[in-house]
Amino acid sequence: MKKIVITGGAGFIGSHVVRLFVQKYPDYQIFNLDALTYAGNMANNEDIAHLPNYHFIKADITDEAHIDALFTEYQFDSVIHLAAESHVDRSISDPLAFVKTNVIGTVNLLQAAKKHWAGHWEGKRFYHISTDEVYGELHNPEEFFLETTPYDPRSPYSASKASSDHFVRAFHETYGLPTVITNCSNNYGPNHFPEKLIPLMIHNILNNKPLPVYGKGENVRDWLYVVDHARAIDTVFHHGKTGDTYNIGGFNEWKNIDLVHLLCEIMDKKLGRTEGTSKQLITYVTDRAGHDLRYAIDAHKIMNELGWEPSLQFAEGLEKTVDWYLSNEKWLKDVTSGAYQQYYQNMYQGR
Ligand code: NAD
Ligand code: TYD
Repeated sequence: MKKIVITGGAGFIGSHVVRLFVQKYPDYQIFNLDALTYAGNMANNEDIAHLPNYHFIKADITDEAHIDALFTEYQFDSVIHLAAESHVDRSISDPLAFVKTNVIGTVNLLQAAKKHWAGHWEGKRFYHISTDEVYGELHNPEEFFLETTPYDPRSPYSASKASSDHFVRAFHETYGLPTVITNCSNNYGPNHFPEKLIPLMIHNILNNKPLPVYGKGENVRDWLYVVDHARAIDTVFHHGKTGDTYNIGGFNEWKNIDLVHLLCEIMDKKLGRTEGTSKQLITYVTDRAGHDLRYAIDAHKIMNELGWEPSLQFAEGLEKTVDWYLSNEKWLKDVTSGAYQQYYQNMYQGR
């Protein structure tokens, strides 16, 4: 029986990874370890919280003594590490928070795994979830990020993720810790916090608020449906080569402004508004400082070596995402009002 601690499981991507593992592997014990920062929401796991192989642990990955005690208590044999500060704009206003969680928190987990596994690497795995943003930005339209692309982070967020990737590799090379890393492109789908582009636009269209497009809206992102990312994580966790790294992406590049136009069209139809109504909300605003021009992943390695491929076309994924937000207006309201932060107290009071 495996005992897997998944960090950041109450966040956007982590909640989908936790759900997939809990449902697909009833013989694994899954420990969702999350500090419940502003980005953590117990509602994201509500549907699986009753399952006997699901366990929630409220803990901060930067808390050395607590993490050490948890490894002693639960004897985890695998770590799937997603907990992070994840928003580029927040990293610009508060870089230190990103160093603390993304760098120090990751090294703290590495230390705990190294100490508790103590050289008995058989059946152990430390899997670090990272981003394509560590590779910097692309200018040549023919170019894609490969696993061999040199790191060139340009935002405090990507610098902190690059640093944590380096520490994960260093623990493999120096101590032999059985690690694996994946670098994924931008995700979208249910449970996405409405500070990021797609959920923010959906939220603002719904509420007739301005749609802030940074600069000229010409920056390009490569979008992957979050469940496809979770499927890739399952594949790499079980079949990825120890010490290796895999890029994950959907070969699905969109200029921000084209994506916002598409969302406006979908939303007008769904809300029964006259065509063109939502586009009138588009407002060009001051560009993000150091705004990376283009990200694009070459995902051939994971596709050829491990047989993973994206399952959803963008049009279908985006429609599913919009439908989810429209049928989960309470989730959206709770998140924007702050009410979601009561879930933990309500669910766990008295236990
Ligand atoms: P998110 O912000 O939605 O969730 C992060 C989760 O981590 C939250 O539940 C939060 O409570 C938890 N957390 C934060 N600090 C913590 C701490 N100190 N201790 C314990 N838990 C803490 O993030 P996300 O978008 O789901 O991203 C998850 C991971 O995937 C991150 O490592 C991110 O860098 C990476 N990633 C994200 C994307 C994307 O498009 N969102 C793409 C590639 C990689
Ligand atoms: P975001 O969702 O923050 O992801 P990342 O910066 O990690 O790629 O932003 C996606 C793109 O959308 C990015 O080019 C910045 C842009 N953007 C806007 O134009 N307006 C917004 O309000 C936000 C949040 C992002």
